[in-house]
Amino acid sequence: MNICLNDKIFETLSSVVTSENVQAYVIGGWVRDCLLKRDHPEKDIDIVVIGSGIDIAKKAARKIHHGTKVSVFKNFGTAMFKNREYEIEFVGARKESYDRNSRKPVVENGTLEDDQKRRDFTINTLAISLNRETFGEFLDPFGGLDDLKKKIIRTPLEPDKTFSDDPLRMMRAIRFATQLNFTIEEETFNSIKENAGRIMIVSAERIVAELNKIIMSSNPSKGFILLEKTGLLKIIFPELDNLKGVETKDGRAHKDNFHHSIKVLDNISRNTDNLWLRWAALLHDIAKPATKKYLPDSGWSFHGHEFVGSKMVPDIFRKLKLPLNEKMKYVQKIVDLHLRPIALSQDLVTDSALRRLLFEAGNDIDDLMILCEADITSNNEAKKTKHLENFRIVRNKLREIEEKDALRNFQPPIDGSEIIMTFGIQPGKMVGIIKNAIRDAILDGIIPNEPNAARNLMIEKGIELGLTAVDQTT
Ligand code: CTP
Repeated sequence: MNICLNDKIFETLSSVVTSENVQAYVIGGWVRDCLLKRDHPEKDIDIVVIGSGIDIAKKAARKIHHGTKVSVFKNFGTAMFKNREYEIEFVGARKESYDRNSRKPVVENGTLEDDQKRRDFTINTLAISLNRETFGEFLDPFGGLDDLKKKIIRTPLEPDKTFSDDPLRMMRAIRFATQLNFTIEEETFNSIKENAGRIMIVSAERIVAELNKIIMSSNPSKGFILLEKTGLLKIIFPELDNLKGVETKDGRAHKDNFHHSIKVLDNISRNTDNLWLRWAALLHDIAKPATKKYLPDSGWSFHGHEFVGSKMVPDIFRKLKLPLNEKMKYVQKIVDLHLRPIALSQDLVTDSALRRLLFEAGNDIDDLMILCEADITSNNEAKKTKHLENFRIVRNKLREIEEKDALRNFQPPIDGSEIIMTFGIQPGKMVGIIKNAIRDAILDGIIPNEPNAARNLMIEKGIELGLTAVDQTT
């Protein structure tokens, strides 16, 4: 018995295709991940049918549960349905031929092997028979099983052909190599290098979906190194590519910020599954090239790179078709604040500086600290320990302040309408001045974060500004 067909669903599918007298096979990701014993959160099953995938999908859906809705994509010859656990997609086996005059691909019905050879990688061409007489047999004309064992990503056809059919596959090769910790076979790799420019015809949405999968893997730097080596990085993400390189002056070198950034990404991946925190890690030093200066006295400076970097985020997100909503704002905020905890690790730091950071970071303070710790990429163990110890102290100080002052989601105890009522004034500049004075006094520890103290300060500030409190009892 083939362990990949252990589930009851395959028995049902087998009985449908056997009674319909058509050949059908499980193919692609399901087979690959089963053989790799890889847990896949999305349970997608791809079935290739020698004949009409749409007909078999309808019949299988009826047998599994009468009334199951089947989505049909006539143009692609595919159909799919979902049950509680699985999403099952059926496709008729196809072969591609070219009309000499138009060069437009004409998709015709084909054999299983025709279908296998137009897939992306040998490890995705492995098929398992569903028909009763041959149930569980592997059909592996391109050596997919062997490549799985050897951990190799290789195209079934000559790679230039496979990649020209869909240039996104160049990104997929790198994504699979990263997720599975496989090696891209040499000819396949060289073809990506040669064809990298063709990625331009692929939509940004498809590209970023692959990029996100690389970022969410357990060792994302592997993917970024491959993207860089193949030349894809400078096309799809030039700002990151720009971080590469080391410059030396007067014997002083700065670090390679590309390798540093992807190391930080690897580090943070051990501590978070939050895609957006991982993006913040990747982008935290993105403005280093834009802010780089050499100062003869003190050496290399990247002054203000956190602020300039946070301003670069919207443009990068727009180009990559990432969301321009609160996720982007979160990334901007983390990039903007990423140096602040370092400053707070100095001995002489005031409570006021700690309060201000808590106020600005709000609930994202823990994520910010995770980034700061991941940002330590020194190879010197003693240095690393020292930095980590400093951040432990900052965390403790933040905790103390927080317990005392409840500042994480700080809302000033007095709002604008109370100021307006108290002084009988119109909304305007004065209200803002008084509100800011109260906020600053609380953050600077001059008054406690309490309504009475805030009210007293409000009256005091109002009088300073020439206002008089109106008697609200009459
Ligand atoms: N496929 C392909 N070329 C593509 C996309 C997909 O040849 N550009 C084929 C592969 O055989 C793949 C199958 O279609 O196995 C299903 O594609 P998809 O669901 O995108 O990928 P999976 O292999 O299932 O992997 P994952 O779920 O990790 O994306």
